[in-house]
Amino acid sequence: MENKYRNSFHIEPAKGLLNDPNGLIQFKGKYYFFHQWNRFETNHSYKEWGLFISKDLVTWENQGSAILPDLASDKDGIYSGSAVEKDGVMYLFYTGNSKKYGKRRSYQKIAYSEDGKTFIKKEQAIETPVGFTEHHRDPKVWEKNGKWWMIVGAQSEENIGAITLFESSNLSNWQFQGEFYSDQSLDQMCECPDVFSLSHDVDILTLCPQKRTPIEDTDLSLSSYAGYLVGKVDYKKKKFVAKEEIQKLDYGFDFYAAQTFEDDKGRRILTAWMSRMEEEEEACCPTVTDGYIHCLTMPRELKWKNDCLYQLPLEEYQVLRKEKREYKNSCHLIKNQNNTYEIMIDFTEWINHFSITLNSDMNSINYTNGRLEISRINWVSGECESKEFEISSLFKLQIFNDNSTMEIFINDGEYVFSMRTFSNHFNRDAYYQNLGHNGSVMFYNY
Ligand code: FRU
Repeated sequence: MENKYRNSFHIEPAKGLLNDPNGLIQFKGKYYFFHQWNRFETNHSYKEWGLFISKDLVTWENQGSAILPDLASDKDGIYSGSAVEKDGVMYLFYTGNSKKYGKRRSYQKIAYSEDGKTFIKKEQAIETPVGFTEHHRDPKVWEKNGKWWMIVGAQSEENIGAITLFESSNLSNWQFQGEFYSDQSLDQMCECPDVFSLSHDVDILTLCPQKRTPIEDTDLSLSSYAGYLVGKVDYKKKKFVAKEEIQKLDYGFDFYAAQTFEDDKGRRILTAWMSRMEEEEEACCPTVTDGYIHCLTMPRELKWKNDCLYQLPLEEYQVLRKEKREYKNSCHLIKNQNNTYEIMIDFTEWINHFSITLNSDMNSINYTNGRLEISRINWVSGECESKEFEISSLFKLQIFNDNSTMEIFINDGEYVFSMRTFSNHFNRDAYYQNLGHNGSVMFYNY
């Protein structure tokens, strides 16, 4: 029997460990989501690229392995990277991790595919430029002003997080252009950078600042998160100019290594690895006994509105809605035995207090005068743990619950909160209080 934690509308591996989304692209009418994968075990000892394909971004076909670590330059892992299309050919950029006598070497590498099934590696390997350590990985490529650009997550020789920039006229030969961005706020290393425009005067740089232990060269970070900077790419100076301080992309427990792509509707779509589990949490994760671990977030659409970044659930997910119920009373117990559902709460007036418990008290959302607190039961300690953050006001909540995930979009995507949550309850009742006058709660069974 399939286990009760296997998600129904999230990408997750049949076996092994999944981490970062890689090479997101719409190619010949289909969506390709590659991902970091250890297909042998539920740990980080091995990395290749796995692949899922979809026609609608909701249902996915698992294609298994796409790129394997079979060259000297990538034998210790096909690390994260991105994809672009040129003249009907898909080009994939990844980091070849290759250790020599235990010492890390990183090469930015290229593979290509004409049919989306066979991926052929090219010989070239871009070496780490002078001034940076071998923590140089996760190339993201895009086209602008008739040229190809590549940014790579880096660490300066002074051990500060940085991003390097390369330029190419043909996608094959790449020239180093210098440091694209660096700042103390990037900690000791910067993983998984991505940059894109959301309006003609706003570019967004997403990245993961990483604190590293100076003692051991493991890839397990001490503390790191996915953030973004609002600013502008200066293509003459070849630098990113930040206009604001770094902000969190997601306020939840489980969100990292986000990547975006643009689809043929012109939408900028983001997905991320839905985990920030500690080592013990990974080892004890309830899916491990079934031989797999981790998933990606639902893809989200990014928008620039009122000088803010908004992240919205894709409208495609509305096809999952089956039964619809509507509630208008101020407090209500919503009886529910279905693990997969969506709840949309609209507050039509200014509210100071609101609370909802979900999955029969396993999770809760509490709002009090500008502070939002969201909780789950931790599967290692068995205790309730929560995250609290400030929001401008509360006028809408949209909650997506899959078998072991929850994503909460607040105020039409002004803030998002993603988490894994493992409930044993058969009942998935929800109980809300203080909806206020004229508010409405829509409940959709999936
Ligand atoms: C981020 C990361 C990347 C690296 C990959 C290895 O989670 O550490 O920097 O390419 O995972 O799996």
